[in-house]
Amino acid sequence: MVIQATTRVESLSTSGIHQIPKEYIRPQEELRSITNIFDEEANKQKPQVPTVDLTDIESDDPEKRHKCLEELKKAAMEWGVMHVVNHGVSGDLIGRVKAAGEGFFGLPVEEKEKYGNDPDGGRTQGYGSKLANNASGQLEWEDYFFHLVFPEEKRDLTIWPTTPSDYTDATTEYAKQLRALATKILPALSLGLGLEEGRLEKEVGGIEELILQLKINYYPKCPQPELALGVEAHTDVSALTFILHNMVPGLQLFYDGQWVSAQCVPDSIILHIGDALEILSNGEYKSILHRGLVNKEKVRISWAVFCEPPKEKIVLKPLPETVSEAEPPLFPPRTFRQHMEHKLFRKNKDEVMQN
Ligand SMILES: [Fe+2]
Repeated sequence: MVIQATTRVESLSTSGIHQIPKEYIRPQEELRSITNIFDEEANKQKPQVPTVDLTDIESDDPEKRHKCLEELKKAAMEWGVMHVVNHGVSGDLIGRVKAAGEGFFGLPVEEKEKYGNDPDGGRTQGYGSKLANNASGQLEWEDYFFHLVFPEEKRDLTIWPTTPSDYTDATTEYAKQLRALATKILPALSLGLGLEEGRLEKEVGGIEELILQLKINYYPKCPQPELALGVEAHTDVSALTFILHNMVPGLQLFYDGQWVSAQCVPDSIILHIGDALEILSNGEYKSILHRGLVNKEKVRISWAVFCEPPKEKIVLKPLPETVSEAEPPLFPPRTFRQHMEHKLFRKNKDEVMQN
C-alpha cells in the first residue's frame, strides 16, 4: 500500500512559491466574489454582524433579562451569527487558550506531524489538512488541529499536544466554561421560541450527551489570496459554535444575498447557530452560510468549538410547537449522523453536476 503524505499548507506557504497549486484555485464562478479582506471601506458599506451583550442573560431583574433575551433572539433569527460580549469567560483564560494554540502551531511541521490524523483510516482527531475527497480535487488553504474536548471522560488525552505545557489545562478549562455558557444560551433560545427553558438543552443531548469538539484552524499566508479560500462556504452542522480568533479578519457571512465580512470585535466570542438548532426551531433560528478568506500578509488562526448532539441517539426534527398548518415542517426527521451524510451527499452531487 502506498501511503501518500498529505501536503501541509504551512509547508507550501513557507516554500516561497508565488503561485498556488491548481487544487487550491476556486472555480471561476466563485472567484468573482472573493475580495480583499482588508478593504475596510468596502466592508463598512455592508450590513454588520450584530453584537449581543450577555451581561443580563441570567439577571434577576426581569426587565433587564427580557431585553437581553430579545437581542439574542433577534440576532439568532435574523443572522444566526453574532459577536457575544460580556460572556463570562475571562480574558486571561482566552489568552491562555490562544497562547497554547499559537505555541503548538509555532512548532516545526515535523513536530506537528507526530500528531497527524488519518481521516480515511477513521482517526479524525489530531493535526490535519483537507484531503481531496471529491472529483474536482479541490483543497482549502488551511491546516488544523481537531479533537473532542468535552465531556471530559470522552476525551482522548493521548493525542493532545504536550507542547506547550499549558495546552491541556487551558483547553480543558475553556471547554468547561463554554459548556456552562451553552447552558445559559440554550434556555434563552428556548424562551425565544416560546418553549420551556430547559427544552433545547434536552433536545440536543443535555450535559451527558452534548459533545464539544475543538478545531484550531491555521490559515498560513497565501501568495494568491484572491484565488483561494481558507474554508469553503458551508453551514455548521452543530447546535452552537463558539469561535475565537487572533484578530486577523477572514470570516465572511452570506447575508441578504451578498458576502459580508465579520469585523474583529475585541473581547468577543463569535457565536453561530448551527443546523441542529435551525432544524429544531423549524427555521426560526438561522444557520448562516459562511466561509473563510485568506490573505498575503498575516497568518490567521481561529479556535472553533462545535457543540454537537450525539450522532445516533437523537432524531432531529422541527419541534411540534414550531410547526403548524401555516408553517409545515421544513426538515425531515434525521439523526445527526444522517444529517451530516445527507449534506455530504448533496455536496458531492452538486460538484458532479458542476463538472
Ligand atoms: Fe463553520
